[in-house]
Amino acid sequence: MAGEPVVAVCGKGGVGKTTLAALLARLLRDDGRRRVLVVDADPAVGLGMALRIFPARTVNDVRKEIISAVREHAADQVDLAASVDYKMMEILEEDGNLAFLSVGRPEEEGCYCQLNTLLREAIESLSSHFDLTLIDAEAGVEQVNRRVMRSVSHLLLVSDTTTKGLRVAESIREVAEEAVEYRKLGLILNRVRDPAEAQKAGTKTALPLLGAIPEDDTVREFDASACSFLEMPPCPALEATRELLLESGFLSP
Ligand SMILES: Nc1ncnc2c1ncn2[C@@H]1O[C@H](COP(=O)(O)OP(=O)(O)OP(=O)(O)O)[C@@H](O)[C@H]1O
Ligand SMILES: [Mg+2]
Repeated sequence: MAGEPVVAVCGKGGVGKTTLAALLARLLRDDGRRRVLVVDADPAVGLGMALRIFPARTVNDVRKEIISAVREHAADQVDLAASVDYKMMEILEEDGNLAFLSVGRPEEEGCYCQLNTLLREAIESLSSHFDLTLIDAEAGVEQVNRRVMRSVSHLLLVSDTTTKGLRVAESIREVAEEAVEYRKLGLILNRVRDPAEAQKAGTKTALPLLGAIPEDDTVREFDASACSFLEMPPCPALEATRELLLESGFLSP
């Protein structure tokens, strides 16, 4: 059964995943027709910073609450399972047609596995209440490998035009063949300086190329300032993202 789109933005570290996710969030906010669940799945904080949305509580806070409830025998397992859905709804930060979920960051290394499991459950249960879900993933293959992205229907692989970026995108696709139930997948080249550069990079990979986002000073300035991408003025990167959505048909069924 084809449910509502669950879009994840994945790729190598630093290639522009958060930038693309923020531009998409901005366009979906402007369009206003869909209720969108926006997920910052990066414990290093990505999309929250770009959109200047800082939820009071995170998925990691819910994880800690569950652990203390179990320790204090304050809840039996059945109650707990039912309350996870409710707790996830409760921690959403609403802003117009966007509802924002942040994964947060555990204090200790050993908690990432639990956190990823809870994040997967949160994405799977919450996304059914929204018209579209948009996820800014952690860099690399880990969250895909750990099946956090299992229910993702549309996988956007971002890369710069370097061979290294393209190879990471390809390895994410390989892992996704087993670990993600995706319906569509495509490559987006970012920080492209001229069309010839994009064309050349496109020939270095078998990934289906959806489009290219130009190198854009407005993006860099916004990143350096305390401004939200939701307030960004029209600029080439935003226009390219709009075209990509309209022309690629990526989000059409
Ligand atoms: N099209 C662009 N034009 C100019 N600068 C860009 C563009 N895309 C990204 N950048 C800049 O590149 C840097 C990395 O971008 P971004 O944070 O989106 O990458 P990321 O893939 O999310 O990184 P991480 O793996 O750390 O989460 C930022 O400083 C951002 O402003
Ligand atoms: Mg990021």
